Amino acid sequence: MLETAAGATPLDVERLRRDFPVLDQEVNGRPLVYLDNAATSQKPVQVIEAIEAYYRSDNANVHRGIHELSRRATELYEGARKTVARYLGGVDPEEVIWTRGTTEAINLVAASWGGANLTEGDEILLSVMEHHSNLVPWQLVAERTGAQLRYLELNDDGTLRLDDLDGLLGERTRIVALTQVSNSLGTINPITEIARRVHDAGALLLVDGAQGAAHHGVDLTSLGADFYAFSGHKMCGPTGVGALWGRRELLESMPPWQGGGEMISLVERDHSTYAPIPHKFEAGTPNIAGAVGLAAAVEYLEQIGPAAILAHEQDLTRYAMERLQTLPAIRVFGPEDPSMRAGVVSFVLGDAHPHDISTILDSEGIAIRAGHHCTQLVMKHYGVSATARASFYLYNTRDEVDRLMDGLATVHSIFA
Ligand SMILES: Cc1ncc(COP(=O)(O)O)c(C=O)c1O
Repeated sequence: MLETAAGATPLDVERLRRDFPVLDQEVNGRPLVYLDNAATSQKPVQVIEAIEAYYRSDNANVHRGIHELSRRATELYEGARKTVARYLGGVDPEEVIWTRGTTEAINLVAASWGGANLTEGDEILLSVMEHHSNLVPWQLVAERTGAQLRYLELNDDGTLRLDDLDGLLGERTRIVALTQVSNSLGTINPITEIARRVHDAGALLLVDGAQGAAHHGVDLTSLGADFYAFSGHKMCGPTGVGALWGRRELLESMPPWQGGGEMISLVERDHSTYAPIPHKFEAGTPNIAGAVGLAAAVEYLEQIGPAAILAHEQDLTRYAMERLQTLPAIRVFGPEDPSMRAGVVSFVLGDAHPHDISTILDSEGIAIRAGHHCTQLVMKHYGVSATARASFYLYNTRDEVDRLMDGLATVHSIFA
């Protein structure tokens, strides 16, 4: 379901900014303006302190030891799983598998589910909008199994060509893998409607929630996904931790992906039996501090409220798009209507290469991203090799958009 941002209480951004120590610094002699949130978000003290407290007081390996610290570490680790399950709309915590992030979660499904279920001639439906993390794992499993890849194309306004969806969903379509929010265009996809059509065709739907979980909250009880992948670091949590959610019957039917400690029930010389979900998919010592940090991030975001965060981002996006349109030779990608996008604005400016734009902005203390954003198929669709991308989060302000505009005026004056 597309969360409606209208009517949300405005954020007290000045107060929230004090939670993020990294924002309080100068870069190249100017106060830092951090507009690279689609790549990774900054971390509030609540998250930094939760990780520090874990290492200071509770660190031990989980599940294995019958001693106080191990018991505490296990409680924190499994408690974090419950917190994440609550954030995802109150799903069963046993359906939440810790991973290193979105990339690993999608690789897990492609290798485990794909390896066990795809055969020659089966079809995997992707879109041209996908991050490489939601393309390459499917290419790898297609090569191994003989499955075919098919693609939903883009409209020029940065939305998916959904009129083509029913035609692309055939008898051989086994799985559809789509992003909830585009990291290079900002487009919010109508996942619930897509899920209905995918299920009517008898296929499964994997949703890449790397941007969605961070920027507009998730209710997996109504979204309609069969698998959902996301990363902690884009939502105020630490790097190296994220999760895969999957429907229980699917996860239970899937073979383990990686083998090792923690994921077994019994090990014999020539075979093993496996632990129940979620541990069947969690081989080796996990990122315990990462899980603790992610739970603190989730609690932080819950207190603010995903609807208020999205409303704030969309306000900044609307403001940035209005101001960008005043620049000569600007080309902004993605939906024109800011309510159809999360806080991501990609653009090119005349003949200035996006890397030069980013370098000039950096000299003024403004951090944006330049490149293909791991979406080379999107770049190809628009006939560009790269874009400049500003992406907003809960701590950004209109003043920072003004600083961006001042920086772009400098870029324009250099390249005009
Ligand atoms: C839409 C999307 N999918 C997947 C990823 C990959 O996430 P991670 O590198 O955290 O695994 C990203 C990261 O930028 C993303 O934006």
